[in-house]
Amino acid sequence: SRLHAPAQPLQGKHVLITAGPTRESLDPVRFISNHSSGKMGFAIAQQARAMGAQVSLVAGPVALATPPGVNRINVETAEQMLEAVMSITPECDIFIATAAVADYRAADVAENKIKKNADELTLTFTKNPDILKAVANLPSPPFCVGFAAESQNVEAYAKRKLTEKKLDMIAANDITLAGLGFNSDANALQLFWPEGSRNLSPQPKTDLAIELLNVVIERYQHKTT
Ligand code: CTP
Ligand code: CA
Repeated sequence: SRLHAPAQPLQGKHVLITAGPTRESLDPVRFISNHSSGKMGFAIAQQARAMGAQVSLVAGPVALATPPGVNRINVETAEQMLEAVMSITPECDIFIATAAVADYRAADVAENKIKKNADELTLTFTKNPDILKAVANLPSPPFCVGFAAESQNVEAYAKRKLTEKKLDMIAANDITLAGLGFNSDANALQLFWPEGSRNLSPQPKTDLAIELLNVVIERYQHKTT
């Protein structure tokens, strides 16, 4: 037998994670997206696997290696991410949405490359589906964890998302804190759930993922037992 065998508190559980940005086409050569690196979601996927979970990782376009033992599904658009998530959700116990989903897509994707003509260009956008809200509002949803990157009113905005999307937990981070968050290897999180909160101090995303999962496991067990 092995000494110091890692605890496997997620043994028998299926954890579904979204990560990275989505990419929404404007024409055959252009898209809109955002600066999400996918690092937080990939770190959570790796640690959930180490804790014994079966892990499905629905990833937008990111430059990261798939953690060993993790089932990765690559997508580009928010609509593709929704479809992939909805196909896996019925089998999963915990859903953690770290993806920076584009809130809008082009109302019409131009069939041909948009030519440079007038001095101003106006594009019309349509709201994308809210993947996390759709999952959390299913008749028997998994334990749902959202992420909220905020530049102001962090606690108030995060708590509003917790309530409005009917989440079990939300992890908020203040994107104005120097050296943390988007594209960084470190982050700090404020966790909120309906009855409580906890602050996770600034640290590498790999360590933060373990602390986050420990709180998720505690709240998941509280909800299901
Ligand atoms: N989310 C999602 N699908 C979307 C938008 C957001 O699944 N179309 C998820 C994100 O993965 C995150 C949470 O919802 O877990 C909050 O995302 P955020 O962008 O902070 O909130 P929004 O509801 O989009 O509101 P806003 O961008 O206006 O703050
Ligand atoms: Ca958003």
